[in-house]
Amino acid sequence: FIMNKIIIAIDGFSSTGKSTVAKQLAKELNYIYVDTGAMYRAVTYFALENEFIGEDFFNEAALIDRLGDISITFKFNEAAGFAEVYLNGKNIEAEIRTLRVSKYVSPVATLSEVRRKLVEQQQLMGKDRGIVMDGRDIGTVVFPNAELKIFMTASAETRAKRRYKELLERGHNLSYEDVLENVTTRDHIDSTREDSPLVKAEDAIEIDNSDLTIDEQLNTLIEKANQIISK
Ligand code: DC
Repeated sequence: FIMNKIIIAIDGFSSTGKSTVAKQLAKELNYIYVDTGAMYRAVTYFALENEFIGEDFFNEAALIDRLGDISITFKFNEAAGFAEVYLNGKNIEAEIRTLRVSKYVSPVATLSEVRRKLVEQQQLMGKDRGIVMDGRDIGTVVFPNAELKIFMTASAETRAKRRYKELLERGHNLSYEDVLENVTTRDHIDSTREDSPLVKAEDAIEIDNSDLTIDEQLNTLIEKANQIISK
C-alpha cells in the first residue's frame, strides 16, 4: 500500500499563524514544509543590504538587475525543528523576521520579476509532492492543482496582537500600533497588487482562526489531509 503524496497549499493574510500550523502539519504527515514568505523576505533583506530600498526610495531596476545574484536555500535545523533560510550561504533566519524587513517586503513582492524567480523555485521544491507550502498565491498560482487548499483568516487586531507578542518575546522593542499598522498596510498591498494578488482560491477551504487554538486548527487540517490521502 503506497500512501498518496499530496500538495497542501496554505494561503492567507499576514500573521494568521499559517506557518505555525503548516509546520506542525508537515511534521505530522512527514512532509516537507516551505515558508514562501521567508523567500520574499530574503530578497527584501538583499535589497536593504544593497540599499536598493529604503525610507523613501525603491530602485526597482537595480534589484531586478541583481536577481541572478540571489540564491535562497533552506537547511533543516534539528534543534529548532524547522528549515531555516539562507541567502547566498548565510543564515538570515533572524534578520528576516524584523519589523524592518516586514515594512519593505510587500513592495518587493509586487515585482513580477521577483515573483517569477521565486515561483519557479517553489514549483521545483514541490515536484516530488508530499509538501506543505504557505504563502499568498500558493493555491492560485504556484500549485493551482493542489489537492488541499486552505485560506486562513483572522481579524487584523487578533493578528497584530499575536505578532506583537511574538516580536516582544524575541526581544524587539516596538509598539502595538506599529505592528497593527504594518499588518494592515501589508494586507492592503498584498491583496491589491496586480501580479498574483492575495485572493482565496475558489476551491480553498476558509478557516477563520480568531477563536481557534493551534491544536484545533491542526486537528482540522490533519483530518482533511487524511481524507484525501487515503482516498
Ligand atoms: O508570510 P509572510 O508574512 O512572512 O510574508 C511576507 C510578505 O511576502 C507578504 O506580506 C507578501 C509576500 N508574499 C507573497 O507575496 N507571496 C507569497 N507566496 C508569500 C509571501
